[in-house]
Formats: sequence, structure tokens, C-alpha cells
Amino acid sequence: MAPMTPKEQDWNERLEREVYQRTLALQDSLKRLEALNSMRAQFVAIMSHELRTPATALIGYADTLKEKWAKLPEKKIQKYLDVISEESSRMVTLMQEIFEISRILEGKLSLQFQTADLIPLIGSAVKEFRLRYADKSFGFKETADSLEAKVDTLYFKSALTHVLLNAVKYTPDKGNILLFVESKGGEAVIRIEDDGPGIPREYREKAFEPFFRSMDNVNRKTPGAGLGLTIARGVIEAFKGRVVVADKLTGKQGCAVVISIPLAGGSS
Ligand SMILES: Nc1ncnc2c1ncn2[C@@H]1O[C@H](COP(=O)(O)OP(=O)(O)OP(=O)(O)O)[C@@H](O)[C@H]1O
Ligand SMILES: [Mg+2]
Repeated sequence: MAPMTPKEQDWNERLEREVYQRTLALQDSLKRLEALNSMRAQFVAIMSHELRTPATALIGYADTLKEKWAKLPEKKIQKYLDVISEESSRMVTLMQEIFEISRILEGKLSLQFQTADLIPLIGSAVKEFRLRYADKSFGFKETADSLEAKVDTLYFKSALTHVLLNAVKYTPDKGNILLFVESKGGEAVIRIEDDGPGIPREYREKAFEPFFRSMDNVNRKTPGAGLGLTIARGVIEAFKGRVVVADKLTGKQGCAVVISIPLAGGSS
């Protein structure tokens, strides 16, 4: 074979470099796909376990009612029906969460972005929570007139709802929940504080992992799958924002979740 001309040699080197780079990129995507796949497998396993628990309860109570209806006192029947209704709504919530989260993990959220003022959106969520959870107190302190950000308003409310639901769920009977809303460094900063047990520092990042539920002592009494914060972060990150668990402003016991979203036309 004739020796390569300098031009051919140049081409050859370029080709090799190109092939090398493409191979690296392919290896990279393969790794990501493998990670996604193993996450999905883990996901399906936990998911079926999580669904089996309420499903087993449903079948058990329904069977008991069917077999012993005539002999059961009215009060027992009522109680079993209550459990059936609670467990069914738990399943529906879980299925909704699983649906949301699988779309987030696969990067398939179809978001309808619009520039919206976050303050009235937060205000309406607070109003709904006040009606739904009359035993809790909700404070709402805003120091900005308006906070315009590019978000999908439905998903924004869903993310906020997951955080508010936690505040409700993990605070003792008469829990105080406080929302601080401000404009800071080109971002809308929403801080949701409660006076529950809080999340220990070592679990504050882990709490965002799918299915992670910290502190058995707290969680044994509160149902949940460990998906709320994962969904909230997934959604807020899709708005180029961040969600973290922090200390409360007062430094007192309780949980503080801080959501930051870049303002539309802000300095970010
Ligand atoms: N406000 C809070 N106070 C105390 N602990 C919290 C609070 N919010 C979250 N956590 C802890 O973080 C964990 C993860 O929260 P996340 O919302 O993801 O799941 P969950 O509330 O357990 O279940 P789900 O939201 O799917 O119903 C919770 O299990 C709980 O241990
Ligand atoms: Mg939750």
C-alpha cells in the first residue's frame, strides 16, 4: 500500500478523533440509559409493593363485609367502609404521584409555560389549604407586589401543594404553617415553614430521593410513599429553579422548605 499523503494522514487523524469522541458520547448515553433502566426496575418493585399494601387492605375489609355483613354491628360496618374509602383514595393519590414522577424522571413533562405572577397562585393554594385543613393555621407574608416567573401554573401549584401537604401532615394537631414570599437576587423565593419535627440535616438531601422516607418514628404515624418532594423538585427544576430543605428563620424546631424560581426578565 502506498504511504499516505500528509493530507490523507490529516484526514485519518481527524476521523480517528471523531470516532473516539462519538464512542465516548455513546458510552455516556449507554451509562445514562442503564442508570435510568435500573432506576425504573427499582421503581416498579417499590411501586408494586406500595400499591399492594392498600390493595390488600381493601380486599380484606371488602371480604369481611361481604361475609359477615348481617352479623356485624352498624358501627363496625361504618368503620370498615371508612377504611375502604381511605385506602382507595390513598391508592389514587399514589397512582397520580407515580404517573407524575415517571414523566419527570423520563424528562417527558409536557409543560405549558407562561409568564405568571406567582403571588396570587400561592395565595389561592393557601386559601384552599385553609378551607381543607381548618385545624391548622396558615400565615402568608409577602414582601413583593408581584413575582412574575415563567412557569406552568398547574405544575407550580402541584409542586407547592406537595410541600404544603407535608407541612400539614408532619405538624402536630394545631400546626402552624408560615409562608414567606419575597423577591431576592432576581429570583422569587418561597419559604414554607412548619413547627413539626423537622428533617435532620443528614436526611435533608436524601428526602428528595424517590421513595425515601426519613425518620421512622415520624413516618409510622403518617402515610406516604416518599414521592412528594421528588416531584416538587423535578417540577421546580424544570422551571430552572431549586428546592432545598433549610433551617427555619428563627432557628427553632420545624421544617423549612425553600423554593427559588428565576424571575421573568430578572437579572439571572
Ligand atoms: N414538613 C416536614 N416535616 C418533617 N418531615 C418531613 C417534612 N416534609 C418531608 N419530610 C420528610 O421527608 C420525607 C420525604 O417527603 P416526601 O414528601 O417526598 O414523601 P412522603 O410525605 O413521605 O410521601 P408522599 O409525599 O409521597 O405522600 C418524608 O417521609 C418525611 O420523613
Ligand atoms: Mg409528602
